[in-house]
Amino acid sequence: MIVLAHLSDPHFDGEARNAERVDRVMSYINGLPNPPDAILVTGDIADSGSAAEYAQARASLVSDIPILMCPGNHDDRSAFRTEMLDQAPDATPINRAHTVGNAVIAMADSSVPGEPGGAFTPDTVEWLRSVVAGAAPDAPIFIGFHHPPVQLFSPIVDSMQLHDDGSFRELIESDRRIVGLFCGHAHTSASTTYGGVPLLVAPSVSSVLGPDWEGREQPVVDYSIPPSLAFHVFDNTHRLTTHYRVVG
Ligand SMILES: [Fe+2]
Ligand SMILES: [Fe+2]
Repeated sequence: MIVLAHLSDPHFDGEARNAERVDRVMSYINGLPNPPDAILVTGDIADSGSAAEYAQARASLVSDIPILMCPGNHDDRSAFRTEMLDQAPDATPINRAHTVGNAVIAMADSSVPGEPGGAFTPDTVEWLRSVVAGAAPDAPIFIGFHHPPVQLFSPIVDSMQLHDDGSFRELIESDRRIVGLFCGHAHTSASTTYGGVPLLVAPSVSSVLGPDWEGREQPVVDYSIPPSLAFHVFDNTHRLTTHYRVVG
C-alpha cells in the first residue's frame, strides 16, 4: 500500500499568512503516527517566483518524508531550480521522476513561461513516454502536474487549463500502469477523470476559488476556509482512494 499526501498552491508571497498555513499542514503531516510515503506539492509554490518566496518555501516545506514538487504558472523555473533544487539556473521544463515503494511518480512541468494556462512541451511528453517505458512491468505509475487538462466548472481556472494536443491523453490511454493523475491550480478539491484515469485535484493551501454556481461574473476567492490537503491511497487491490482533509 502506498499513501501520498498531496498539497498544492501554497503561493508563498513573502507575507506570514500563507507560510503559516503551510506550517500548519506540514506539522499535521509530520505529526502523523503513520506517515505517508511521500508528500506531493503540485505547483504555484511561489506567488511571483522570487528568490525570497522560495526561501520561505524552503523553510516551511520540511519533512523526513520525501517531498516531490513541480512548478505552476506562478513559479519561475530558474529560481525554482536554484532555490528549491540546488541546481544551476535553467529555464527549460522541470521534469523529475521518483520511485516510491514499487510506484513511479513523474512530476511534470505543465507551466508555460509568461502564461497562466498550461501545456506540455513535446520534450516533456517524450520524457513522460520514457518514464513510462522504463517502469517495471508491475509498477503503478502516477503523474503529477499543475494544470488540470479538463473543464472544472470554475470561472477562473477553466480559462487557463492545460492545453493537450492529444499526445498526453494518448500516452495515458496507451498504458494501463498509469493509474492516477494529480493536479493543483484550481484551488478547490475536485475529482474527475482524464483518458479513463482518475484525476485528483488537491486544494490550495492558501485560498479557495468558488465554482460556477457561486457566480461566474464575480468569482469567489475565499480566504476564510482553513487549509486542506488530499491523501491518495493505492492499495494492494490496485484501487486508488482519495481523502480530503481540512487542517483546522
Ligand atoms: Fe494557484
Ligand atoms: Fe496555478
